[in-house]
Amino acid sequence: MASNIDWIIPTVRKPSSWWRLASTITMVAVGLFSKVLIRLLNRSKVHNRHVISNLISNRDPSRPLVTVSNHHSCFDDPGIWGTLKLNHLLQPSKMRWALAAHDICFTCWQHSYFFSWGKCVPVIRGAGVYQDAVDFMIEQLAKGAWVHIFPEGKVNMTKEHIRFKWGIGRMIFESPVPPIVVPIWHIGMDDVLPNEPPYVLRLRKNLTFNYGDPIDMTEMVKALKAANASDEEARKQITDFLQEKLMQLKTETEALHAKYYKKKC
Ligand SMILES: *[C@@H]1O[C@H](CO)[C@@H](O)[C@H](O)[C@H]1NC(C)=O
Ligand SMILES: *[C@@H]1O[C@H](CO)[C@@H](O)[C@H](O)[C@H]1NC(C)=O
Ligand SMILES: *[C@@H]1O[C@H](CO)[C@@H](O)[C@H](O)[C@H]1NC(C)=O
Repeated sequence: MASNIDWIIPTVRKPSSWWRLASTITMVAVGLFSKVLIRLLNRSKVHNRHVISNLISNRDPSRPLVTVSNHHSCFDDPGIWGTLKLNHLLQPSKMRWALAAHDICFTCWQHSYFFSWGKCVPVIRGAGVYQDAVDFMIEQLAKGAWVHIFPEGKVNMTKEHIRFKWGIGRMIFESPVPPIVVPIWHIGMDDVLPNEPPYVLRLRKNLTFNYGDPIDMTEMVKALKAANASDEEARKQITDFLQEKLMQLKTETEALHAKYYKKKC
């Protein structure tokens, strides 16, 4: 059961100074933990990290960043960010905002604090694209922030094709400055934190992380506006386009993973 979550988004929107401090401590601690787990205690090969490093450090301050990735395990976020540079993990204000399921991550006040200090806000799955959490993300994009999305909207356990949720399409279409999107494909996170009990973190697994080429959404958004596309049509086209990009990256990443971790006979 979800506890009362109505206070979270207003609190995160206007954080007090003690809230900021708690958030900084949480972000840094979780970032360092992820780095140790992913980079030292497991084998990990990271491709094209310079793409994300460069965008975190050097993008125009008004230009928002959106990352999209596959979702294989409940440790994907923060695990993926274990691949980032240390100095980025030490600057929580530059780190991503994320959506987290209200009925999983915000079920008691302790978890609600932990996840909201960790820059996650509760999304109500099934409540559609017009909800507070999505509005909140559009506000962050308007400030040039970085937002991470798992567009499948849940951990992909069934191994079937999941159609992306349209929230990502709404955020990009309604962002005052169209964002740069970086697709990320990762392999092996479901070995680090399996999707079945006991939910215990594992060591010495083979992991691959691949940052895809940045996609500037400006032209696509401009074209949709010029063609008077309805909001719904625009959301659908943007979402389908990004799904295709992520699937291309999947194929590429699977080949890299197989090549890098070739079994020694
Ligand atoms: C879900 O997993 C299956 C099997 O790994 C894969 O074929 C499918 O593309 C995945 N879906 C998405 C949207 O990642
Ligand atoms: C879009 O709407 C505007 C104003 O209603 C109109 O002037 C323009 O011709 C329309 N463009 C297209 C491609 O339909
Ligand atoms: C992990 O990669 C190593 C080579 O680096 C390989 O020998 C080993 O078989 C791989 N493990 C699995 C489970 O694929």
